[in-house]
Formats: sequence, C-alpha cells, structure tokens
Amino acid sequence: MFDEIQFNTINRLPNYVFAEINEIKMEARRAGEDIIDFSMGNPDGPTPKHIVDKLIESAQKPKNYRYSASRGIYKLRLAICNWYARKYNVDLDPEHEAIATMGSKEGYVHLVQAITNAGDVAIVPDPAYPIHTHAFVIAGANVITMKMEYNENYELDQEAFFRSVKRSLHESLPKPKFVVVNFPHNPTTVTVDKEFYKELVAMAKKERFYIISDIAYADITFDGYKTPSIFEVEGAKDVAVESFTLSKSYNMAGWRVGFFVGNRKMIAALAKIKSWFDYGMFTPVQVAATIALDGPQECVDNIIKTYEKRRDVLCESFKNAGWEINKPRATMFVWAQIPKEFQYLGSMKFSKLLLTEAKIAVSPGIGFGEAGDNYVRISLIENENRIRQAARNLKRYLKSLREAK
Ligand SMILES: Cc1ncc(COP(=O)(O)O)c(C=O)c1O
Repeated sequence: MFDEIQFNTINRLPNYVFAEINEIKMEARRAGEDIIDFSMGNPDGPTPKHIVDKLIESAQKPKNYRYSASRGIYKLRLAICNWYARKYNVDLDPEHEAIATMGSKEGYVHLVQAITNAGDVAIVPDPAYPIHTHAFVIAGANVITMKMEYNENYELDQEAFFRSVKRSLHESLPKPKFVVVNFPHNPTTVTVDKEFYKELVAMAKKERFYIISDIAYADITFDGYKTPSIFEVEGAKDVAVESFTLSKSYNMAGWRVGFFVGNRKMIAALAKIKSWFDYGMFTPVQVAATIALDGPQECVDNIIKTYEKRRDVLCESFKNAGWEINKPRATMFVWAQIPKEFQYLGSMKFSKLLLTEAKIAVSPGIGFGEAGDNYVRISLIENENRIRQAARNLKRYLKSLREAK
C-alpha cells in the first residue's frame, strides 16, 4: 500500500550482511547441529560479581526507580573522568567534557545525528564497524570510505592513511567535516601509536575537521601493547571526542553502558539531543557502572588473559589445521586472511561453506566493507575446548577442499 510513500532513510541502509549467516546458523541449530559460533563480538563471560552485587543493592532502593539523568548521574561522569586520569593522565571536566550513553553505539548514532547537517561528508576507513559508516547515512550525510592499509602485524600504515585523508579532504566537495578512527580496530584489530594521534590532531586543526575516535577495545591488548588515547595529545580536545564502552572490558554488553568524552561543543550537542530522546539509563545500572570503573580492576586483567589464551589456542590450532593466521595484539577478534587458494570464493561464500561444512560460524569480511572481502572475522567468544574442536572440523574440511581441487 502507498507505494508512492518511500522511507528514504531506511532505503539508504543496506541489508545487514551478517543476517544471512545468522539465518543459516539458526537453521543448522534447529536441525540439531552443533555450530561453533565465532560470529558476533558478544562477550560470553559473566559480569564481575561486585558489579552485579552493586546493581542488586541499588535496585532495592525505591528512590532509584524514577527517571534518571539523560547525560548520566554525576558520580558516573566523575568515574569516567577518573578512568581517563588513571589510564591516560588526562584531565577532564565531568560537567562539560563527559557524557554517559546507553552503550557507545547509541552515543555514536546520536552524536552523529546531532552534529551532522544533511549533505555533510565524513571520512570513514574501510573496512569498518558498520555503524561507523551507517550512522552518517541515517543522518542524511555522505561517507567517503578510505581503504585501510596495514602490515602483517596489523599495524596501520600511517603514511598511507594520512595520504588518503588528505586526498579525500582536497578532492571531495563539500569538504569532509568529520574523520572517524577506531584503534584497536574492529574488525581488523589494527593498532596505532601515540604519534598517529599527534599527526591526526595537527591535520584536523590545519584542515578544519572534527575527529571521532572509538577506543572500545582500549583494555583488550596483548604482548605489552598499550592503546593510546587521542587526549594524550596536547590540544586534542579542541577537535576531538573519544568513546569507550563497558561492554568488553567488564563483560557488560547487555547492560548498555558506554561514554563519550572530549570536545565541549560536541559533548553539549550530544547531551542536548539525548535530552530529547531519553531519560538516561536505569539509575542502578549507572551506579553499578560507576563501581565497575572506580572499583578493583583485576577482573579486567582476567578478561584480557582469557582472550589472550583463546587467541593463542586459535592461531596455533588453526595453523595445525592448515590455516595460518597472524596473531593480533589487541581486541577480542582474529582477522583472518582467507587462504590464498580460496580467496576467489569471496568472504561470503567462504563463510557459508565454513558454516555448512565445518560447522564454524564466522563473520564475512565483506560485511565490514569491500576492503574486507579477503578476510573473515573470528570472535574469541568460544572457550579453548570449543576452539580446538573447531580446528579439528576445519582440518577435515580444508583437507577435503584441497583434495577436491
Ligand atoms: C569498535 C566498536 N565500537 C563500539 C561498539 C559498541 O559497543 P557498545 O556495546 O558500547 O554499544 C562495538 C561493539 O562491538 C565495537 O566493536
């Protein structure tokens, strides 16, 4: 009915590539098959007990049942600033430079909506966490995707990155107003050093664009690597905001707690738009999140160790199965180049075959952008025994594929 009435925003959004894989996975499960599921970045571990206990205690206080504060209760915003001070020695004002969001994804979509005019242009690396691109599409803006170059240790080719940004800035009309960065990166696990942000901030000031930096995986690093923050660069607050989430570091994905900090104008814009959309997270969730950030941090170390061990088991057992993958030094993912001889299949077909023939679910790289099509993303959300089982399935399958060639 009403074919002449089109929903343009929705029409501009592509179908979710991962839905196809999900569908096959659910069908196989319904048929009683045991699928080893590495497809979503959805942490499988429990939230640490002291955080859950705080939620329960706080949920028993009737005063907490009222509408909460849309931009976050003061104590949570203070805990956010303390987290930055401890981790990065960065000074932030909880009143004007920090805001709590219902997961960083909600914050990102609303921030983009608040700061983007229709027709604006943003530069987003390819591949990307899909919402990094599509929040701008939802906001009626245009995106220039920029192929990300990196070496076999998943370190960004910073020279190539800045060359590409510069080209996009000078060739695009209108000139891009926003650059989105996300290191450690989902899905590629690519990392950068502090120098990268120095150059990025300097370029933003010279060329006049804002930076949105997402450090969702800041804590999940291995082999001595430490994630830098853009705010370690003097003057970065003039041009940047940065987001973090409790979803990964504290196994709190379902709780929906994240935050943005930095540039006052952008934080105020996000606070204003949020005040129209929501009344804030349930206060007990905010109180428990405060404890997560301010309380003992051994739980974070344990979560990191779990991912590190799984990464090692996965890379080693998959190598024995005939698929050599370089080890990432951050995130809860392995970004696995499809063996050369099977790359002609493309990541979608290869992922479907892995699912139907080896009973392993992964995310096809194409779902993150064209530049991801020679890769699949493997989330480290299955335990070591299940990873070893996946490697056994894989060995059998790759052997049969190679013999059939
Ligand atoms: C890079 C990145 N940013 C943000 C998010 C969203 O996190 P949240 O749970 O805080 O919305 C994710 C989740 O997978 C992510 O990978």
